Amino acid sequence: MWGIHTDGKKSEQESIESSVRRESRKLRRIKRKVEKYEAYYRSGSYVEAYTAHMDGRVERDPEKAIGGSWEEVGNAQWEFLINQGLRPHHKLLDIGCGTLRAGRHFIKHLDTGNYTGLDISPKAIEYDAASTPGGAF
Ligand SMILES: C[S@@+](CC[C@H](N)C(=O)[O-])C[C@H]1O[C@@H](n2cnc3c(N)ncnc32)[C@H](O)[C@@H]1O
Repeated sequence: MWGIHTDGKKSEQESIESSVRRESRKLRRIKRKVEKYEAYYRSGSYVEAYTAHMDGRVERDPEKAIGGSWEEVGNAQWEFLINQGLRPHHKLLDIGCGTLRAGRHFIKHLDTGNYTGLDISPKAIEYDAASTPGGAF
């Protein structure tokens, strides 16, 4: 370290060094991801690669797997369709339902059997069936 401590705060030099270390760590993480996804995409079809990618994300964190902001985005989709007039007797086909950030609201609202969710990720569908009875996946 080249900084001089006079008041317990980080010197400018130390701040720059810690920013560089942080950004280097980020770059190494991104590089590892790129290598992993390149390997997926080289090994088979796009659909297989994307399925493996999504399955991995769901296994790590089902709520973040589909993009995060679980409550906000789920509620926004719910409010949007309710305002568009979605009623319990309607039928909803949710293509790319993921881990039901929005779908769980619709399953509760719709009459039994009126929600169908599809996703490219079998892990997402397994998670949905286990966490939210009442839908068809
Ligand atoms: C951004 S997430 C949205 C999930 C959910 N609709 C929500 O709003 O919470 C997109 C979802 O679409 C799925 N998906 C992407 N391409 C797909 C495809 N070709 N067929 C089925 N699902 C697909 C992904 O696996 C992912 O779960």
